[in-house]
Amino acid sequence: MQAKELINKYIEFFKSKGHFEIKGASLIPENDPTVLFTTAGMHPLMPFLLGQPHPRGKRVVNVQKCIRTCDIDAVGDPSHLTFFEMLGNWSFGNYWKKEAISWSFLFLTEILGFKVSQLHVTCFGGDKRVTEVPKDDEAAKIWKSLGIPDERIVFLEGGALEGEDNWWGPPGETGPCGPSTEMFIDTGIESCSPNCKPGCGCGKYFEIWNDVFMEYNKTKDGKFVPLPNKNVDTGMGVERTIAMMSGKKTVYETELFLPIIKKIDEITPEDIGSDNKYVRIIADHMRSAVFLLSENIVPSKLDQGYILRRFIRRVIRYLRLLSVDLFKIDATVEIAKVVIKTYQDRYPELLSRKKFIFDELKKEEDKFQSALEKGLKEFESMVEKDNQITDKEAFLLFQSFGFPIEMIKELASEKGVPIDVDGFHAEFKKHQELSRAGGSKRFKGGLADSSSETKKLHTATHLLNEALRIVLSKKDIVQKGSNITPERLRFDFNFDRKLTSEELKKVEDLVNEKISQGLDVVKEEMTVEEAKKRGAQSEFEHKYGEKVFVYHIVGFSTEICMGPHVKNTSELGKFKIKKEQGIAAGVRRIKAVLE
Ligand code: SER
Repeated sequence: MQAKELINKYIEFFKSKGHFEIKGASLIPENDPTVLFTTAGMHPLMPFLLGQPHPRGKRVVNVQKCIRTCDIDAVGDPSHLTFFEMLGNWSFGNYWKKEAISWSFLFLTEILGFKVSQLHVTCFGGDKRVTEVPKDDEAAKIWKSLGIPDERIVFLEGGALEGEDNWWGPPGETGPCGPSTEMFIDTGIESCSPNCKPGCGCGKYFEIWNDVFMEYNKTKDGKFVPLPNKNVDTGMGVERTIAMMSGKKTVYETELFLPIIKKIDEITPEDIGSDNKYVRIIADHMRSAVFLLSENIVPSKLDQGYILRRFIRRVIRYLRLLSVDLFKIDATVEIAKVVIKTYQDRYPELLSRKKFIFDELKKEEDKFQSALEKGLKEFESMVEKDNQITDKEAFLLFQSFGFPIEMIKELASEKGVPIDVDGFHAEFKKHQELSRAGGSKRFKGGLADSSSETKKLHTATHLLNEALRIVLSKKDIVQKGSNITPERLRFDFNFDRKLTSEELKKVEDLVNEKISQGLDVVKEEMTVEEAKKRGAQSEFEHKYGEKVFVYHIVGFSTEICMGPHVKNTSELGKFKIKKEQGIAAGVRRIKAVLE
């Protein structure tokens, strides 16, 4: 089965169960500085899982592109990827375990045709340490009633702490989370040991779907409090499911990877195949890099740009290890062409940004090539000196030669010398990079945060957006990105030059004037067409006929937005612009605060 067919079947199935199909979101979370990437379909839906009504009702379904850097070290095994697509269906305080599990079962067996005997499931084993959440006997009972015998229902010893089994979320510091039940397909290969069971990473049991019962909100002080609604959040991996449907043992043997792997094979002098770890890493990282570039991220030392740089540089290093002559072949560009071809029907932005993607890859490849030779020499002399790589040395290789830490670790292990990775991270932190670039969790706030500070800054962002259009006399100014923490707002917009200090002052004054006028902020629900007719700004594409929320700052601004906002602009305080800078060709960024 091909990805496209699986996606259509999934969406149609859940539509027939009363779900509304919503568009997938960007890979870069809007208004959520707590994570670098959209890591799951539920992430853009956090406000609705926390209780805000969704304009499309209580049941929605979609396919979402995701990036998970936490799995970077596992890439190369049969199933883990940094970029993947996730199918999901959600219940916002509507159906619960019985429907969710029964529909998962029905879809897997009747629509996709898996045999019941291939199916294994895991359920939450209970955790009294932090949450007092009981063992999920209810989920197990439902599975049993559907025909899964006890021996194929496993309670994993996990818990509600981050990363533990059968518990999911929150993706950031705070937010919705809960116990889950996971579905696995037995690939038929031999067990790695008598203790091998679903959850073991040997490749015998392939996890393809996860139903999460989100009934808790993790608060800033680490408590798990019941949510107003009991929600269902499910996630099915597209690559993994089509691998299992086609009787393959790894995601790399599917139609989403084979053409990419064939291309890598073509450009490497030796014969290699899809079971070569370097090839798998190259294929995986190139997909992530191409999708990030298609969203206008460029390689840099910060945030998403830093992760993108790591992807590209790791690709280059593995290509070199496979003896590809990068001076002769534009290898990353050649591979990117195949990635684009594989996805262009479903993600047309790949095609329209093709030139940009190729140019940036080439630039990064050239930059890294010249640093690499010098860096490798430096590395050799560090090893010769005292047979180790100290924290400071690792940091130097990173800082001056742009070596990703994984690569420094690999170089050290190839030489058999120890490396101070913890020291490197401490050093990295000292330079204030880690909090902004390395981890997946960064600032407080985000979509799960509806604190009054965040709400105020959100309303201030609407005022700023309109004020820019008025002061710069340009009606075509639109939001290119927004990122709000409880401390400040950050707003990106299209404009082709630096703003003068008079212009900035005018924008600031206009926003403050609107604050002092005490304008009401009013929410209305209407179709996209109606909203556009009324002049509403919207940075997202919407489907024809889709119902959306429109926020009016009465007499001043009208925007399609999910909210939340304050009730009256008088609540905001004093608006102050802290910084204005260019971040890409034709895109400016303003940082501002409320004092
Ligand atoms: N959020 C859950 C996951 O990512 C289910 O969608 O697995």
